[in-house]
Amino acid sequence: MNLKNQLENIFVSEDQIPDQYKLPSEIHQREYLSNGELLTWNGDVHAVYSPICIKTERGLERKLIGTYPVCTENEAMDALQAAVYAYDNGRGEWPTMSVADRIKCVENFTHSMLQQKDIVVKLIMWEIGKSYSDSVKEFDRTVEYIYATIDALKDLDRQSSGFEHEQGIIAQIRRSPLGVVLCMGPFNYPLNETFTTLIPAIIMGNTLLFKPPKHGTLLHYPLLKAFQESFPKGVVNTIYGRGHAIVPALMKSGKVNVLTLIGSSKVANELKKLHPKVNRLRAILGLDAKNAAIITANADLKLAVQETVLGSLSFNGQRCTALKIIFVHKSIADAFIQHLNEAVAQLKFGMPWEAGVTLTPLPEPHKPGYLKELIEDAQAHGAKVINENGGATAASFVYPAILYPVNEKMKVYREEQFGPVIPVVSFEELDTPIDYIIDSTHGQQVSIFSNDSEEVAAAIDPLVNQVSRVNINCQCQRGPDVFPFTGRKDSAEGTLSVVDALRSFSIRSLVATKNNESNKRLLNDIVHGHHSNFLSTKYIF
Ligand code: G3H
Repeated sequence: MNLKNQLENIFVSEDQIPDQYKLPSEIHQREYLSNGELLTWNGDVHAVYSPICIKTERGLERKLIGTYPVCTENEAMDALQAAVYAYDNGRGEWPTMSVADRIKCVENFTHSMLQQKDIVVKLIMWEIGKSYSDSVKEFDRTVEYIYATIDALKDLDRQSSGFEHEQGIIAQIRRSPLGVVLCMGPFNYPLNETFTTLIPAIIMGNTLLFKPPKHGTLLHYPLLKAFQESFPKGVVNTIYGRGHAIVPALMKSGKVNVLTLIGSSKVANELKKLHPKVNRLRAILGLDAKNAAIITANADLKLAVQETVLGSLSFNGQRCTALKIIFVHKSIADAFIQHLNEAVAQLKFGMPWEAGVTLTPLPEPHKPGYLKELIEDAQAHGAKVINENGGATAASFVYPAILYPVNEKMKVYREEQFGPVIPVVSFEELDTPIDYIIDSTHGQQVSIFSNDSEEVAAAIDPLVNQVSRVNINCQCQRGPDVFPFTGRKDSAEGTLSVVDALRSFSIRSLVATKNNESNKRLLNDIVHGHHSNFLSTKYIF
């Protein structure tokens, strides 16, 4: 079968779906968690159609996998009220609880979450089309992240469990929560990236309003009970509905202390502006990116091709860290293109449950049309689709397109494609890609491929001041999760890593007094009597 025929046959009929990957049934969520209760919703619902299409007599149809509530501003405001009440201006049970007890709650949650692994993994696969093996990895990485967060908080707490003496003042310095956090995650890592903000936010003593991503909502449903049972009421509240209908009122209320969003800079800008007290609002954001690869004449070509494929096509290019534009030195451009072409042709495409599959259907219904537009625009400005069937589309599936030579007149030169399109630009001087990065509105990461130490060093120094991570001879990526993950310009605000996230969702507070006998007696009484959870020398083992 040639590639074109294979593409047409990528989808299967209902009876050809292997039993072990099927959902037990359609999932019709009617509950949402607010103020410690799983409330029933009887209003409008959103139908969730999987990017996985099914062959039917009527042709290919996205499979309906369930529905979820489309609540209104009223329910969102009730949830906000619950979070505000649970925080109670820092006097609530949760923000004043000892770190050790908060850790216990998160451990209980994780234990219950693990019991839901099978269904959550299947829902990741069905809702966003991520390969089954990558869906499992996403779940496992999230659990590891939670445990690493607990360990990091224990370390932080141990470091703060003593008193400091300075210039006649005794003080104990710890980190305190900030208040109510509005947390919104992205569709591409709907569990992992959401939890890399949600977990640190909760564990530091904040209370939470959590809006799951539009594609990637149902997979959180099996976890609602675990949230309900693991935390005091009002600590975790879920909100469902159209973002533009429910989120503005939350921001305008001025009661949200932290906005954490992994998504677009446009949405983040709009939301921040709605808050009446800008100085009270902290924003922790992971936003757009257009990471470049710079492949010089001194690169190991095989390695550069291998990493370009991984960097630009893992999860179909739908990663904020994906390589979204490739600069290759003119002297090796033809060879690079040829090898890239061959490597892309080797990638397995198909249904997400197939072993070894890399390329799978795309969840956003508008995406195939958008990518087609980008490709046609590039062609109109002189680029060619270099690979056979590049850009070929079958319903929600788009076969990767390698575009060459790409220039500044094309939309794909600047726009974040977030999909399987690889724009390749040739350059003669290293200044060309460096100037591109300087002019870019993004500043997340870059990958430089070269084995010439002087050349690499000359690129590192200007690039570290433009982006937040310079990768040498490897693709861009977020992990390991203990490394700082951030970006400059429109790419991020605040830093997320296991340790940094704990700092991002808290503020340093200290209790201080003059070093004299009566104050020392007072502090000793408090500490020895275990009267305060903040002023304490308890050591978490
Ligand atoms: O979407 C952006 C993710 O943070 C990327 O994470 O580089 O580990 O795939 P990753």
